[in-house]
Amino acid sequence: MAIALDYTFMLDAAVRGGVPREVFEGAGEAFQAAQASVEARRRSGELGFPDLPTNGALLDQVEAFVARARGRYTDVVLLGIGGSSLGPIALRNALRPPLWNQLDAGARDGLPRLHVLDNVDPHTIDAVLSRLDLARALFLVISKSGGTAETMAQYLIARARLTRAGLPLPDHLCFVTDPQKGALRPIANADGIPALDIPANIGGRFSVLSPVGTLPAALIGIDIRALLDGAAAMVARCATPDLLANPAGTYAVLQWWSDVHGRKPVQVLMPYSDPLRDIALWFVQLWAESLGKVQPGGDHVGPTPLPALGATDQHAQVQLFMEGPADKTVTFLAVETPAVDITIPALHADVPDLAYLGGHTMWSLLNAERRATAGALATRGRPSCTITLDRVDPWHLGGLMMLFELATAYAGALYGVNAFDQPGVEQGKLFTYGIMGRAGFEGAREAFEKLPRSSADCRV
Ligand code: PA5
Repeated sequence: MAIALDYTFMLDAAVRGGVPREVFEGAGEAFQAAQASVEARRRSGELGFPDLPTNGALLDQVEAFVARARGRYTDVVLLGIGGSSLGPIALRNALRPPLWNQLDAGARDGLPRLHVLDNVDPHTIDAVLSRLDLARALFLVISKSGGTAETMAQYLIARARLTRAGLPLPDHLCFVTDPQKGALRPIANADGIPALDIPANIGGRFSVLSPVGTLPAALIGIDIRALLDGAAAMVARCATPDLLANPAGTYAVLQWWSDVHGRKPVQVLMPYSDPLRDIALWFVQLWAESLGKVQPGGDHVGPTPLPALGATDQHAQVQLFMEGPADKTVTFLAVETPAVDITIPALHADVPDLAYLGGHTMWSLLNAERRATAGALATRGRPSCTITLDRVDPWHLGGLMMLFELATAYAGALYGVNAFDQPGVEQGKLFTYGIMGRAGFEGAREAFEKLPRSSADCRV
């Protein structure tokens, strides 16, 4: 079982425009300082995510809940947003058969569907809720802060519908939230609603290996022990301060240098695997919200992550990657062995456009296209690297997600920013509270009202 990072095409020996090898190797000291600062924050208890894989108490909470829930629900509906939804979606789509929610109960081994409502667009909420048998539904309300407007609005709708249907709330609601803070915890205590913990030192986008991700995953039959084992193995592998032996450190240093010194601020994550498609969206939030910050000196920094999918985006975005501005790195996600493969029939021997495909498998075609795209980018001086998983299974997913989380923490230290806060999203929240008439936010409403108004001469 292995996860390998190949960065040959990130270095200028292979790709003009890549990172000079001596610069990369010379970054060992900068990395050691970054790793030491992450380790110090971890040891002080400020950073909890690297310890999630070995947190037996959280695993017990999840397994006890799942044991009680077994056989009771046809549908689990996750209410959450950002770090509270992207990880669970990525896990479901990577580790359950494709189109899980459309399979019949037999094909799902009697396990529930998992719907994730991660927005407040009434179209989707109405579509999902109106198809549910509420008596067989479980709503997971997932919010670290226990106060996010989108999630709270969804919760109010779900609660009202359960109450109207005369269903006991503790049987149909479960909260995953901070052990002390926020609005959900006291409601859970007052109403006897089960509530699982997100430890205080875990932020939303670093929470996939807490009950945020493990509870929904376990409810739909994903082996969360293997997921956590894979993550623990990656933590152990990245314990070294030796840059060249530390895959998360290597990834962080190469991407950071490419942005800050190589003028490549756009960083594409491109899985060549449909099951890994949503890992790219999960990564985008992790990388963007953690690193897009103001440095203490006042400079605005941060790479712009961009999701893509191979081979599909070869017919959409790769033209831009090849010939547009030379401002990108591409990280390919590759998988050694597929869960299934299909041999392409050898038909039309006399039609050259088709004949060469016969006898190959679809997987070999997909991987040939990935290698060809990396090679084509190299010919234009466009750097890339490839992370290869032996296969898509819980162990490898746990390892991959931990690799990216550690890389994000290291990159935060290299940029000189705090990767674990998100002050930039506060202003919009304050304005929303003001606009929605929340008590105590009259000042925010006033400030919003004072902004320039939409003007008639700027409309067409
Ligand atoms: O990473 C983060 O902290 C955020 O993106 C949160 O996940 C998101 O805002 C949702 O927050 P909460 O889980 O508190 O509802």
